[in-house]
Amino acid sequence: MSGEIKKIGVLTSGGDAPGMNAAIRAITRTALAKGIGVVGVNRGYQGLIDGDFIELGYTSVSRIINRGGTILYSARCDEFRYAEGIKKAVDMCRKNGIDGIVAIGGDGTFRGAADLSAMGIPCIGVPGTIDNDIGISEYTIGFDTAVNCVIDMVDRLRDTMESHHRCSVVEVMGRNAGYIALYSAISTGATAVAIPEVEYKYENILQKIKESQEAGKTHFIIIVAEGVGQSEQIAKKIEEDTGIITRATVLGHVQRGGSPTANDRVNATKIGHYAVELLANGLSNKVCGIQKGELVNYDVQEALKIKKSFPMDLYNIFIETSK
Ligand code: F6P
Repeated sequence: MSGEIKKIGVLTSGGDAPGMNAAIRAITRTALAKGIGVVGVNRGYQGLIDGDFIELGYTSVSRIINRGGTILYSARCDEFRYAEGIKKAVDMCRKNGIDGIVAIGGDGTFRGAADLSAMGIPCIGVPGTIDNDIGISEYTIGFDTAVNCVIDMVDRLRDTMESHHRCSVVEVMGRNAGYIALYSAISTGATAVAIPEVEYKYENILQKIKESQEAGKTHFIIIVAEGVGQSEQIAKKIEEDTGIITRATVLGHVQRGGSPTANDRVNATKIGHYAVELLANGLSNKVCGIQKGELVNYDVQEALKIKKSFPMDLYNIFIETSK
């Protein structure tokens, strides 16, 4: 039996990500193994305010490791942004004997975890977002599955682009981060990529198409991150300027679904297990992550300040190898 913690809650908040269920499973089973009870909080912080809880046992988390989405559902909660909402959530925790929370999500989720921690409910944040944009972690739950989804979709698009000697502009998720775009561009051998971290210049894309055409290429894949957007206009312009029939495809939310990859299942399990260890050891107000393959944790406030440095070396490798 560990310290003060007798029962914890686990919640998922913000955009869902494949692998969140694997984390919920690991959190539940690690806690149970330590003699700590577990409740699942439905619909993120909204469920915490409403007391929308479900008891979690060994069997309630079996056969979920392979499932996308989150069995606890997710929601964005305006009420929780205000002191009154936070107070309601704290009261609900106290009333239900919940003396620790593991919150899976992104930066917004971690802000909520900091608010709860400050009010005396120890919280640990676990990075779950397909965008891979959490400063303190080289990995976030769901990123690997999302990239593999994009690869699958682009491989399919390539089949038809190749048959018709066409160009495909593929818009992938990532409002502020180009990780999905860069990793999928490398993995699919795309002709060009446009990401929010690098100033967008249409001329660069056009030049890459022309160079590839001169080198003998007859079909083209251009990956555009959501944060750059304009995929329809880019496609139209390419067609006007090159005469190559060009189609835009916005992949959208398919990227957030599907069965998690081995990588996401294993890492979600590792981080979920670690989060419970931290809580059980009396820590609070922390975000966990992976750096150079090692598990790490930072105070939430510090974690939120750390801006992730984009792997420009990888971007440059893409530029050189896509010529
Ligand atoms: O979860 C991250 C993300 O998928 C971003 O890549 C995307 O910009 C955003 O969520 C979409 O959010 P929503 O599902 O609320 O439209």
